[in-house]
Amino acid sequence: MSNKIIIINGPNLNLLGEREQSQYGSHSFEDLKDICTKKSEELGLNLEFTQSNIEGELVNLIQDSRKDFDGIIINAAAFTHTSVAIRDALSIFKKPIIEIHISNIYKREEFRHNSLISDVATGGIFGLGIDGYILAIISMQKLLKNED
Ligand code: DQA
Repeated sequence: MSNKIIIINGPNLNLLGEREQSQYGSHSFEDLKDICTKKSEELGLNLEFTQSNIEGELVNLIQDSRKDFDGIIINAAAFTHTSVAIRDALSIFKKPIIEIHISNIYKREEFRHNSLISDVATGGIFGLGIDGYILAIISMQKLLKNED
């Protein structure tokens, strides 16, 4: 069964709980990791939870995921709006991709309204706080189950 998934978090998400609580809530990055790990275990998924502030490291993670993982859940954070390199890496990954944002990027500054990765993702979730990660894990499990 395809059950190996990776959650890739981009810049500044390591400071969850500390940064702009009105946008991102009060849970810390460690809380988020625990919540995602628990949900994945419950659904029989093997989760790797990652974060980097560095664009090239994110590209490497996405490239390496081709052989190691069956699906990617990605919050590329600020790189969502700027990174052709992350978009290109994702488009080489021929398995399910879910884009996630904690905040509603369409209700915020105009520069956040454009995502370079939405059209290479299978689907996306935004504006639902960290619950969006739980929903993404549930959806990923269904996508992988339908593939088997
Ligand atoms: C974010 C939204 C981005 O615009 C922002 O740069 C982030 C987080 C979100 O999860 O809402 O760092 O991806």
